[in-house]
Amino acid sequence: MSGNPSRHVAIIPGDGIGREVIAEAVRVLREADRRYELGLVFAEGLAGGAAIDATGDPIPEQTVALCRRSQAILLGACGGPKWDHGPRERRPEQALFTLRKAFGLFANLRPAAVSAALLAASPLRPEVVEGVDILIVRELTGGLYFGAQSRTGAGEAAAAMDTLPYSACEIRRVVRKACQIARARPRRKVTSVDKANVLETSRLWREVAGEVAREFPDVAVEHMLVDNCALQLVYNPRQFDVIVTDNMFGDILSDEAAGVIGSLGLMPSASLGEEPPGLFEPVHGTAPDIAGRGVANPLAAILTGALLLRYGLGLEAPAAAIERAVQQALRDGQRTADLSGGRPGLGTAAMADAVLARLH
Ligand code: IPM
Ligand code: MN
Repeated sequence: MSGNPSRHVAIIPGDGIGREVIAEAVRVLREADRRYELGLVFAEGLAGGAAIDATGDPIPEQTVALCRRSQAILLGACGGPKWDHGPRERRPEQALFTLRKAFGLFANLRPAAVSAALLAASPLRPEVVEGVDILIVRELTGGLYFGAQSRTGAGEAAAAMDTLPYSACEIRRVVRKACQIARARPRRKVTSVDKANVLETSRLWREVAGEVAREFPDVAVEHMLVDNCALQLVYNPRQFDVIVTDNMFGDILSDEAAGVIGSLGLMPSASLGEEPPGLFEPVHGTAPDIAGRGVANPLAAILTGALLLRYGLGLEAPAAAIERAVQQALRDGQRTADLSGGRPGLGTAAMADAVLARLH
């Protein structure tokens, strides 16, 4: 496959354990690149607290330009106690919002699959979680997160308001994305989650989701109220295949799904728009309590690298190879401290070595 065009990947380690785990994810991607001749070219940029310290800006224009030149973005995590007290536009999270908006990353994919080797990590009974394989598709550039906000008055007269706007077009494109993804999965089922018994935006959501469903006769689309979905995720998580929902509900339900699986250190995510670059980041955040000690679990970042190959660059074979290597390492009992049930675990680099040794 020599003569392949270069594929440019922006690497944004960010803050906290982001730096440690992204270094390992890049090591695994380089090995996949070597074996499969993918033509990957990496370039590093600053965002989050690291960028605030270096430039005063959580997301310097230079970083946005780097991302614009890239076909995919691999990001560690942004934030930390050091930067928690700045004004809104000077907080690390701002980097995430800017990137989500700048690249129109309206669909956030958060897979929550139980690995057979880690059934015991779930707080639920093994017979309830065995075989769970859920993909949450969260709308990421609309709704409560981006609606008008206001704050008026003072003291007991103080009042605040957030607004929840959605247009048919914003709903349609994310539900379509969910149905397209469901089509490529064995069960071909989509649960569209809303609060249509109360919210007008949810009634629109349900209408549009119903229209999209008719475009996908081969996908079974069902509707579920968000409170019931929260219950069903714990009660009978195996019923779900793809879940599609709005920004706020998706934020909450995806953390709940992580809790059901019980291994946040294993959860990757992909944020996609109509065209590249997509943004790929592990779900776990910066974990300031363990940052800098070389003990963080790199598997979520490594699995995020696999999503980058699959959804960011359309490279299924190396993506699947990385996922297989991770599962094999887990089956062989390789564990970082977060998953070792109190026994000493492998460090960050050693766990990545365990994956590399099983990558074929
Ligand atoms: C997430 C995070 C972010 C969000 C925070 C850090 C703003 O919780 O990616 O789920 O709410 O989108
Ligand atoms: Mn969240």
